[in-house]
Amino acid sequence: MCRECPGKHCAAGAFLRRFLVKSENPAGAGINCEVITVSEFHMTECIRKTKERVPLTAAEIRALVQGVTDGSVPDYQTAAWLMAVCFNGLTDAETAQLTMSMRDSGQVMHWDMLDGPAADKHSTGGVGDKTTLILAPIAAACGIYMPKMSGRGLGHTGGTIDKLESIPGLTTALAPDEFRRLIQQVGCAVAMQTGNLAPADKKLYALRDVTETVNSIPLICASIMSKKLATGADYILLDVKVGSGAFMKNDADAAELARLMRAAAKADGRQCTAILTDMDRPLGRCIGNALEVREAIGVLRGDTENALGQLCITLAAELLRMSGRGDSDACLRMAKEAVSSGAALQKLAQMIEGQHGDPRVTEDLSLLPQARCSRVLCAESDGYIAAMDSEEIGRACVLLGAGRMTKEDSIDPGAGVVLAAECGDAVRTGDPLLTMYAGCEAQLDEAEQKLRKAVRISADMPAQQPLIHRIFSDRT
Ligand code: URA
Repeated sequence: MCRECPGKHCAAGAFLRRFLVKSENPAGAGINCEVITVSEFHMTECIRKTKERVPLTAAEIRALVQGVTDGSVPDYQTAAWLMAVCFNGLTDAETAQLTMSMRDSGQVMHWDMLDGPAADKHSTGGVGDKTTLILAPIAAACGIYMPKMSGRGLGHTGGTIDKLESIPGLTTALAPDEFRRLIQQVGCAVAMQTGNLAPADKKLYALRDVTETVNSIPLICASIMSKKLATGADYILLDVKVGSGAFMKNDADAAELARLMRAAAKADGRQCTAILTDMDRPLGRCIGNALEVREAIGVLRGDTENALGQLCITLAAELLRMSGRGDSDACLRMAKEAVSSGAALQKLAQMIEGQHGDPRVTEDLSLLPQARCSRVLCAESDGYIAAMDSEEIGRACVLLGAGRMTKEDSIDPGAGVVLAAECGDAVRTGDPLLTMYAGCEAQLDEAEQKLRKAVRISADMPAQQPLIHRIFSDRT
């Protein structure tokens, strides 16, 4: 990205700023350039307008994002504007424009060279969420290309990159050519998000993180969708997590986020389905990097009669339907067949090998890293499991070494928790509730306190929330 002539006066004497926005076409078809001229762009004016709920123009939003990206807008002004957005929100048109401008702040990928549809899936972040490891190979086995850019764990939520990197030898630092080659040859690959993908989001996210402005629905929409749109897939499936372990704590907020993200995708000509799924409890039984890889391999080996397996089959079927592979019933059958035939497991092995990992893990789980210490936590009373607070379980897993407390922390790939029971299960005193895995006994001691509070046993059978709350698609 470069700025051409930072400031000039036009014939009428107005102060003009011209921006040359360049986006590289990774397929090698050249560089797309757009010159944007903004007269009298002042960040203070943008802050005032948002503070007074006056919508910004498209040109103002483009200039603001450009200024954030190239550093010409100082952090204190950006932070003030972010706080104004947190209080007053943005209009739908502003949110869509912010998303597009952030998308265009870096490289925008294209997949025109593929002979089939390119699809992407995004989860807004949760605990025990290993769906990408299952969904990408199923989609690839059914002829859908899935170029996936992912991030590391954030706070108490896990990240696909950390999970995959627990596989011996596997790398997610894929050069663009290697990523493209793998997508063409295998059908799916998961690469670490590069700094060149929506760099405006990198800057804005870092500021939001330290100014208490993460929790704004338009800002979350722009952050997620700018990266999704820059990745270039035509079909986007959004898994919007809702509940204690998610950013969206209730259905109304999750539905609003889903609506805005779908609108941004539509404005960019992409098809998008959003599925609201429960995050009041962890997804599946394993939380922690290698433990989750183990569970994902289990599903691909055919263990689908559980909440995780059912959700992944549903997500895969919707992805196939959106991408034009058939009606809902046919796509459901196709997704199930990809698992039962072993084709999806084979795709996972090919993807692991293509990313320099040991593909034998798909046959021999003992090749995955294991923690040195473990401890079983048992029920201290009879009753039903009324709650498994996923946020607290996620935080306990960080204490066990499965996540980071600071950016610089390293992860223990074998650390985490395996649940022995699920919400609603009847338990008796002494029954195992879960097993903790860590590198040392002190970590187990620390996490045990949190986990005891996270699992609540009550005398009455609790009402169960369905795993899928709502689906927003072009059919609904
Ligand atoms: N994930 C993102 O990438 N951005 C957000 O703002 C929230 C979750």
